[in-house]
Amino acid sequence: MAKLAIIGGTGLTSLKDLELTRREVMHTPYGEPSAPLVYGEMAGKELLFLPRHGAGHTIPPHKINYRANLWALKEKGVEKVIAVNAVGGIRADMQPGRLIVPNQLIDYTWSRTNTFFEEGLSHVTHIDFTEPYCAELRQSLIDSAAEAGLTVIGEGTYATTQGPRLETSAEIDRLERDGCDLVGMTGMPEAALARELELCYASLAVVANMGAGRGEEEITMEMIEHHLSGGMADVRRVLEQVVPKLV
Ligand code: HPA
Repeated sequence: MAKLAIIGGTGLTSLKDLELTRREVMHTPYGEPSAPLVYGEMAGKELLFLPRHGAGHTIPPHKINYRANLWALKEKGVEKVIAVNAVGGIRADMQPGRLIVPNQLIDYTWSRTNTFFEEGLSHVTHIDFTEPYCAELRQSLIDSAAEAGLTVIGEGTYATTQGPRLETSAEIDRLERDGCDLVGMTGMPEAALARELELCYASLAVVANMGAGRGEEEITMEMIEHHLSGGMADVRRVLEQVVPKLV
């Protein structure tokens, strides 16, 4: 049974290095996940892959059924989840193509279903979310990147915005004043739902563009895709190193 799952984001709707074994359509009490679960082997180890935005990259960040995605993985016995997220860079060193393993987050999303703990409760439950990511898994990602000869930025505060539009430059300034270093649209509620299910969860973020007002150029989808294709090649190298350690 696969104990490790990778949730792919923009730029990573499939894993080329994954030798596919089978797919499974899942139904959960919360609806259907973004796509059938993909089972495969990487570096000789079994894992599960789920494209967050759907197999054809058609589900926008605010429409993703985060609960069904996490529930399906938990139901299949997954214990560890590596979430790959495309982000915008706010801090000056977070340039397009850089990889980041964030250690903190701030949630700016609204009207997303963000908990499993709301119906049929025997008591109200509050999870500890002081450290939103699994420290052990973060360290494995950082070490594996170094072993693959890559430099990752090993900390940073990830602002999750509602999207699907990008931010205004004033919003990016505000996020920076709040202490955020990178900005994306899919970090939450995914991380919190993973914690509610007691999954060990960490993010490997790839900078697609500088945050609004921080770069020279207008932010276009072409530009995002261009930077992501290089960044995702590095993500694959990290995954190849890290998977044998985790499974
Ligand atoms: N902002 C929010 N989400 C993103 C960005 C951005 O600039 N780039 C990629 N995902």
